[in-house]
Amino acid sequence: MFQPGGDKKVLCAGLICLDILSVLDHYPVEDTDNRIERQIWQKGGNCANSAAVVAQLGEQAEFIGTLATGRAADMVLDEMREFGVEIDHVVMHDGCDFPSSTIIINTHTGSRTIIHADKDLPELTFSQFQQLDLNWYKWIHFEGRNMTEVSQMVNAVQEFNHSASMEDRIIISGECEKAKYQPEYFISTVDVLFVAKEYAQHHGFTTAKAAVHGFHSRVKKSATVVCAWGEAGADAMGPDGVHHHTDAYSPGQVVDTLGAGDTFNGAIIAAMCRSLPLDEVLKFGCRVAGRKCGQFGYRGLR
Ligand code: ADP
Ligand code: FRU
Repeated sequence: MFQPGGDKKVLCAGLICLDILSVLDHYPVEDTDNRIERQIWQKGGNCANSAAVVAQLGEQAEFIGTLATGRAADMVLDEMREFGVEIDHVVMHDGCDFPSSTIIINTHTGSRTIIHADKDLPELTFSQFQQLDLNWYKWIHFEGRNMTEVSQMVNAVQEFNHSASMEDRIIISGECEKAKYQPEYFISTVDVLFVAKEYAQHHGFTTAKAAVHGFHSRVKKSATVVCAWGEAGADAMGPDGVHHHTDAYSPGQVVDTLGAGDTFNGAIIAAMCRSLPLDEVLKFGCRVAGRKCGQFGYRGLR
């Protein structure tokens, strides 16, 4: 049971996978034979990455999602433990293909080209999510993927909140990134809406400012909209309707932008847990995400 006075956790619910990065100093031409500078195997997945960032930034963090049993699972779960992320509720499936991404990193530009494989691994279900004791959490961040199940999870957290005291209410955030998953349910339900550039562009917005204004009119009155826009930085608007913008933080040389958005989301969550003002939250998010772009992987971002 939750110990009164103990630290409540930030839970990230979504994808974990294995990322295999092939690092080159250029982008390969189709049907040519290339040599890499280095290859990196690391855990990946939006929510797994964000959870690792949240943990590094001093919050108790937990990740929940599904994985296929096997050596690759041991590897990515060990890495999550090393980051200090709890993984006790990860649901393991036997005999499924392991979710993985093959990624080409062009260090000349820092660009990342992702080819993701998730063939037959079942996503987290609502009944699996129901095994959690919500008293342990102060914030639950959802990735907009299997929305039929995820929307029920969001409803369950909202129901929990209705009967909880103000201080025990769980902040709910949701990430709208891939339009194909139709994450629209988040827009009117979550407390913090992360709108990724990819999703905003799909809806016809050409800047983070326009996206933040556009989505702010559709969220709950008490909600905050945050939108990251690559090297253009990020924008946000809270319940007071004031628009904030922060330029991207330059790490000097950009070498690897893989997971910049996941890092940004994790840093925003950690900063909001500290109740910083929204402009400080944005600055912090861009600083941590920018630092990540100047290095490989997610270590040492504190
Ligand atoms: P995603 O990984 O979802 O494509 P973005 O590219 O929108 O995410 O980047 C998220 C955040 O990471 C940006 O708001 C910015 O702060 C930082 N960032 C991304 N690309 C760069 C870059 N080239 N230089 C500095 N910061 C960057
Ligand atoms: C980066 C990332 C990778 C993963 C891919 C899945 O944002 O989470 O770690 O392979 O996206 O789409």
